[in-house]
Amino acid sequence: MRKIYLDNNATTPVHAEVLEAMLPYFSEDFGNPSCVHWAGVNVRKAVNKAREQVASLVNCSPSEIVFTSGGSESVNTAIKGIAAARKGGSSHCVTTMVEHPAVFNSCRYLEREGFKTTFLEVDRSGMLDLSELEAALTENTVFASVMYANNETGVIFPVGKIGEIAAEKDVCFICDTVQAIGKVPVNFRELPVDMMTVSGHKLHAPKGIGALIVRSGVRLLPLIHGGPQEKNRRGGTENVPGIIGLGKACELARKDLEERQARIRSLRDALETGLKEKVRNVKVNGHPVQRLPNTLSMSFDGVFSELLLPELNRKGVAVSAGSACSSESREVSRVLSAMGLDSTTARSTIRFSLGSQNSREDIDYVLEILPPLVDRIRSERNAHLRANP
Ligand SMILES: Cc1ncc(COP(=O)(O)O)c(C=O)c1O
Repeated sequence: MRKIYLDNNATTPVHAEVLEAMLPYFSEDFGNPSCVHWAGVNVRKAVNKAREQVASLVNCSPSEIVFTSGGSESVNTAIKGIAAARKGGSSHCVTTMVEHPAVFNSCRYLEREGFKTTFLEVDRSGMLDLSELEAALTENTVFASVMYANNETGVIFPVGKIGEIAAEKDVCFICDTVQAIGKVPVNFRELPVDMMTVSGHKLHAPKGIGALIVRSGVRLLPLIHGGPQEKNRRGGTENVPGIIGLGKACELARKDLEERQARIRSLRDALETGLKEKVRNVKVNGHPVQRLPNTLSMSFDGVFSELLLPELNRKGVAVSAGSACSSESREVSRVLSAMGLDSTTARSTIRFSLGSQNSREDIDYVLEILPPLVDRIRSERNAHLRANP
């Protein structure tokens, strides 16, 4: 069976060069980087090199990087760490209705701990009203957490402006950059962001490795207490092979970021244009321009994704309904609901997310097999409705 993977916002395959770079750190270079003997010293050097590779991709100082187990841990460390380190009685935070559950549920957790959270609404294109953000920030606000790019729709937020508003009010700005890094240039030095997140498996490194970038001077309590690793910001012996893999993946992502993404964008656009031409009553969700180059969220009127997804899967095409994390639950996507989609339309939505391994042939194949599947599901539905008026 032909296999076409269009779910790169869920995860990406590990790059062959990343795997190759990691392998020695499972066997001959097995040392603990905290040890000062021969077995540890070389590993420490390799970890330092990986730190520099990550720093070069996002333009931060290597000392601003805290390696973690992934995007979720990075977010939890940022949100809970800044909340725990706050001074005085401040206990308010601001986030949006369309954040990844790592952010959304960390804020919900803080609410149970006595925090107040303002969840900002978005408009139909998934965008924030910046005047609402400004109004929400008070002298009691400890942090604002707004994502760089949405995992379901690819909508890109005006992070520069958001950071400026937060800085004017002296509020710490956490930006979940998990979906943006490796897809668009993200420059920590030039952004008014205090902390941002990296997840290895979204950029061809393995699962279970990530990073939190913390601007120097930001006071943060650790989420994981333990040894002095990561300058006391994250206890526990480092995931050395994962760190080496993340470093290599960042080096590769940096190499030809713009050409690679231009190619992915043209494939995504071909998919979008082709589907609009070949399938009646479809709608693209999210901002038409301020969007990741690889992501297409499309609603197919009258075609529930729980029917379309298995049909596509049978033909070898892997896509998601909304986000990967919610694909097992039948709950309607919080993100799409926040954008004003009714529950039927939200349930009829597919997320295509492309990656560097995709080709024009993949897109042509989807454009060939998907329209007849939609037609079939629609006519079966119409027949059912006629039989059961
Ligand atoms: C925007 C965003 N933030 C955070 C995460 C969590 O990352 P991880 O899977 O590495 O825990 C994801 C993963 O889908 C994501 O899309």
